Amino acid sequence: MSGITRPDGSYGAVAKIFHWVSVPLMIFAIASGCVIGFIRDSSKFEFYAIHESLGFTLFLVAVARLAWRRFNPPPPLPDHLPPLMRRAAEGAHHALYAVLIIQPVLGFFGTNAWGFPMAGATAYLGFIDFPKFMEANATLGTILLAAHKYLGWAIIALLFAHIGGAIYHHTIRRDGTLMRII
Ligand code: HEM
Repeated sequence: MSGITRPDGSYGAVAKIFHWVSVPLMIFAIASGCVIGFIRDSSKFEFYAIHESLGFTLFLVAVARLAWRRFNPPPPLPDHLPPLMRRAAEGAHHALYAVLIIQPVLGFFGTNAWGFPMAGATAYLGFIDFPKFMEANATLGTILLAAHKYLGWAIIALLFAHIGGAIYHHTIRRDGTLMRII
């Protein structure tokens, strides 16, 4: 787009792929998770299965992404970024990585504690049965899935901040920040 300055450094191809693969996975994981609570008939299990497979895939992608990032550091944030904005961006990025790990772990152990491991009707990708990791413990299951629910809402807020920041950089500051990841 004319008027937008050239990006100062760009993410590598692999980091870009990790980022853009995570976007639809996240959208559908959040949407399917939110829908579950409204379903009253037997199709609920299909939504559990879809949601849990999307969530676990996000976890695998996040682990691979963090491992890649460890050996392929991202380009430094541009010098022209004011310190407050720099801290906000770094904070949001670290928080996003943290929730990409913590949220699936809460969901995974929450369902296990409820006595519903990812097997049978909720097998990973529909056919990979995981062993059960613990004996059913309804109290623990309730706590873990409540934490999963509240963190889900926090993730939605975090994503709005992240996307809002990207739009702000692209349309108002016009500083090429968004182009670093495209
Ligand atoms: C990053 C990955 C994930 C995200 C972003 C995510 C997000 C969400 C959200 C937003 C909800 C709706 C909360 C509500 O308002 O009720 C939800 C529900 C749920 N999630 Fe996840 N989730 C993820 C991974 C997982 C995984 C890996 C599992 C299990 C293996 C899982 C199991 C569940 C279950 C069982 C519910 C329904 C809880 C209930 O019945 O109240 N989630 N998730």
